[in-house]
Amino acid sequence: MRHTDPTTPASAGDPEPRPALAPARGRFITFEGIDGAGKSSQIAATVALLQAAGIDVDQTREPGGTALGERLRELLLHEPMHLETEAMLMFAARREHLAARIEPALEAGRWVVCDRFSDATFAYQVGGRGLDRDKFDALEAWVHPGLQPDLTLVFDLDPAVAAARVASTGVDPDRFEREQRDFFVRVRTAYLERATRAPERMRVIDADRPPEVIRAEIERIVRERFFS
Ligand code: TYD
Repeated sequence: MRHTDPTTPASAGDPEPRPALAPARGRFITFEGIDGAGKSSQIAATVALLQAAGIDVDQTREPGGTALGERLRELLLHEPMHLETEAMLMFAARREHLAARIEPALEAGRWVVCDRFSDATFAYQVGGRGLDRDKFDALEAWVHPGLQPDLTLVFDLDPAVAAARVASTGVDPDRFEREQRDFFVRVRTAYLERATRAPERMRVIDADRPPEVIRAEIERIVRERFFS
């Protein structure tokens, strides 16, 4: 019988050569939250933490992460479009990202840390803009059946506080950042609702605390989830 499980040693006298050990699949970690919730610096800290543990990490973002995805990002962030066009372009960029970067990295044993993934489409397009839930489910089932992040950290913050943070950067706001407060209230609610339905995968982080406190909490979650 052929040995298909690389962890099972071939028995003595087995005529079939033993397949080379495949690397353990990498882990997929995503960061989510409304604009201004402060994910960026925590993503960098998490990548540094994993690297210090000797893990090979690929840091990326959505929409984006590939040459085509970054071109789609430009359109998505700046070009007015129909809500369903927006949702489909988010998933088109994601399809490319998965095929060209995320899946190959995970298969090679590298870990992927991604700024946003499909939970953002649920929160922004379904929650924020009112995209039909069935259409979201269909796109998600088409683009990544059977794949979800191993861990998703949802940065939760009062939209008023987040808006003040975005304004204080002085950077020209994009199409999403220009949305009104009630839009971000709906996005936040959608994130929290989704987190309630996937409590194992999604952890809600109170983002209204000093960065070092948040960093320590993330470190604890990551250690607990992957290293204990
Ligand atoms: P992000 O990279 O977090 O913005 P920034 O670089 O300005 O901090 O995300 C870009 C925007 O895209 C953000 O406002 C959320 C939005 N977005 C969606 O609406 N749906 C999605 O599926 C994704 C991935 C992002």
